[in-house]
Amino acid sequence: MRKKVIAFAATLLLPVSLMANSGGENLEPANIDLHDHKSLQNGAKYFVNYCMGCHGLKASRYNRIAKDMGLPVNPKQTGKTGKEADQVADANAKLITENLIFTTDEEGKPSSLGSLMLSSIPPKDAAKWFGAPPPDLSTVGRLRGADWIYNYLKSFYLDPKRPTGVNNTVFKNVGMPHVLWELQGWQKLEEGEHGHHLVLDKPGKLSPEEYDVVVRDLTNFLTYVGEPAQLVRKKYGVFAMILLVIFIGVAYAMKKEFWKDIH
Ligand code: HEC
Repeated sequence: MRKKVIAFAATLLLPVSLMANSGGENLEPANIDLHDHKSLQNGAKYFVNYCMGCHGLKASRYNRIAKDMGLPVNPKQTGKTGKEADQVADANAKLITENLIFTTDEEGKPSSLGSLMLSSIPPKDAAKWFGAPPPDLSTVGRLRGADWIYNYLKSFYLDPKRPTGVNNTVFKNVGMPHVLWELQGWQKLEEGEHGHHLVLDKPGKLSPEEYDVVVRDLTNFLTYVGEPAQLVRKKYGVFAMILLVIFIGVAYAMKKEFWKDIH
């Protein structure tokens, strides 16, 4: 009986494990930390500079991500009072406006702190240019997972057969160009005895270690964006588990009590 249950559970989990490993590559762990405000801020900065030309985050507003990254623009959320609260909020608002907001809204007006993070490219044109429309990345963290995004951004390589000049070992024949080439440089694919691997052909501005940090912060930011509620939910999740355990104990004690005269 127990064996059957285990076999059944394994069958249920099989598609999950296959999905997690889509692409057939071994994914390097992203090791992100959703509570690391500096990392989220850095990820957001790279995202608006290198990605928002094509990708939007239509589920996020600037002021909300500012708050979650530890830069609240609302005096009430600063944890300070009076004048000091206003000063901190103003400084944060200035920082966000100057470093993160470069886009316009649907009517062409410059985005403000309360605007949605929409991309500047019309999706139809983008689809024509790249063969595939750049998807909104609001949910990519949940759909693909952090490890996938991290490895994807590290796995572009030169491929003259592709219209963009690059291919990707994690996302075969991808339509996205290697937008971080200036930072990473160009990689090429080398066939070895044990399959293929990527080697740096022309270095970029960053060392491989520095590039990993940028990509990790971007991945951290996209994972957070996929589920801002996750930060709060984890806290309640632990609480819910404790309650559940207590309740199971109570239920068991009650069951014993109810049935003791019947047996
Ligand atoms: C020049 C336009 C362009 C820029 C800039 C760009 N992308 Fe993309 N991206 C695309 C296109 C097009 C696709 C769709 C590829 C496909 O389906 O073949 C894509 C796909 C993706 C995907 C996979 C989505 C999925 O689940 O299929 C991720 C993740 C991604 N981009 C992240 C980024 C990040 C992070 C940046 C900034 C560092 C970035 N992109 C910058 C055009 C762009």
